[in-house]
Amino acid sequence: MKICCIGAGYVGGPTMAMIAHKCSGHTVTVVDINQSRIDAWNSDVLPIYEPGLDEIVKASRGKTLFFSTDIDTAIREADIIFMSVNTPTKTYGVGAGRAADLRYIEKCARKIAEVAENDKIVVEKSTLPVRTAESIKRILESNSKGRKFQILSNPEFLAEGTAVADLENPDRVLIGGDQTPDGLAAIQKLVDVYAQWVPTENILTTNVWSSELSKLTANAFLAQRISSINAISALCEATGANVDEVAHAIGTDSRIGPKFLKSSVGFGGSCFQKDILNLVYLCEHFGLPEVAAYWNGVIEMNDYQKHRFGRRIISTMFNTVSDKKIAVLGFAFKKDTNDTRESAAIYVCKDLIEEQANVSIYDPKVPEAQIRRDLGLAEDATAVTICDDAYEATKNAHAVLILTEWDEFKALDFKKIYDQMNLPAFLFDGRNLLDLDALRSIGFEATGIGRG
Ligand code: NAD
Ligand code: UGA
Repeated sequence: MKICCIGAGYVGGPTMAMIAHKCSGHTVTVVDINQSRIDAWNSDVLPIYEPGLDEIVKASRGKTLFFSTDIDTAIREADIIFMSVNTPTKTYGVGAGRAADLRYIEKCARKIAEVAENDKIVVEKSTLPVRTAESIKRILESNSKGRKFQILSNPEFLAEGTAVADLENPDRVLIGGDQTPDGLAAIQKLVDVYAQWVPTENILTTNVWSSELSKLTANAFLAQRISSINAISALCEATGANVDEVAHAIGTDSRIGPKFLKSSVGFGGSCFQKDILNLVYLCEHFGLPEVAAYWNGVIEMNDYQKHRFGRRIISTMFNTVSDKKIAVLGFAFKKDTNDTRESAAIYVCKDLIEEQANVSIYDPKVPEAQIRRDLGLAEDATAVTICDDAYEATKNAHAVLILTEWDEFKALDFKKIYDQMNLPAFLFDGRNLLDLDALRSIGFEATGIGRG
């Protein structure tokens, strides 16, 4: 079979690399309108940093895996077309700030309708509002010229930083489709692709709407757990309880479970906030304001947590950070990725810049230009310095912030860092990564999230 994927981003690239890696009988072509992204996928330095990704891309590229900007040809030749384009929060018009912006998905559907010459299975890989498949179907069928299209929903559950492992060994693959003979046949074709490496009992099939809604619901539940533990972290700080101990104590209840209970400076990433906002918008659209308000609380708590962290830094540092050097270690929204979308670090740094601090930032994978873009800084702006390592960033600093849980930060020589800082030396661990008692024994005034 020939498989095409429109959108060579964090999902399209790794997902298709895994399909090509596992299904040598199929040809997989990933296409994008972004020439420089495609060039990067075809180069030695891939546009995305993910552990294990280089190996699987390089093993299949040029054999069964291709990256191209020739979208028309890839669509024309494909039996199955995945749509893996971005679906950001709308910034304009009706639903601005909440609804998903579906213009990229719609453009894909129109492109498929325009160039396809035979029947196709079209797969929603992007995360979409419930009933988007209906709109895609209408666009395709309004210009069908006798061709038949089956629309499937196959949402992606990979997390960045562990994408390759998640794709190789997914908890489940979800495929939704029409419950008609043609729909069921299309579902089976896609099941057969995944069944080359995923046990069939882990491949779930549903109707289209359940599949679309399950994706939004999964992200909402995951984010809700983080907001819940972060809410408790504020109470821990007020009462002297330790949030890590509370998380462990509740997580050993098998009904609650231990995962996703790590208190932090706030969840980031391109999807949790966008998908919950989308869910909230859908609830409002369907006349369910109480349900909308319930889920909106998850976002409100996350916003509170991000700004609470900044306020705590300022109040601890004698109510002013003006002209003080604050070293920020970590800018990516989580470890093992170069992605900074909605990273809590952006909000914390902006709050500190607003307070006229001098911020020096080190991240192992995020390039300087990206950090400057995220902070809305001109190239020559001096409020922020981007450093090549943690020791340079912390030199003469008044405080160190840990904003991403990169493993290399655990191995830093904090005695060396302390010795080159302004005293008193403050350390704010926004990821509960470090041993605060050990830091205090060096001399740091160290605090974490929900840990006193
Ligand atoms: P991304 O921004 O990294 O990639 C999207 C790509 O689509 C871009 O390279 C863009 O140039 C391309 N594109 C947009 N319109 C196009 C068009 N008309 N024709 C060809 N290419 C086009 O986005 P992403 O992080 O890969 O996310 C894609 C979707 O997957 C989103 O709906 C997201 O919610 C969902 N998702 C993301 C993740 C994740 O970890 N990033 C995980 C699960 C699901
Ligand atoms: C998340 C989901 O985990 C994926 O299943 C989903 O496919 C994806 O969103 C998506 O739809 O895009 P991702 O955002 O890549 O994946 O990463 P997560 O591991 O979920 O982390 C999200 C944020 O939550 C990060 O900022 C992370 O540091 C934070 N987090 C996570 C916590 O603060 N505490 C935790 O216990 C776990």
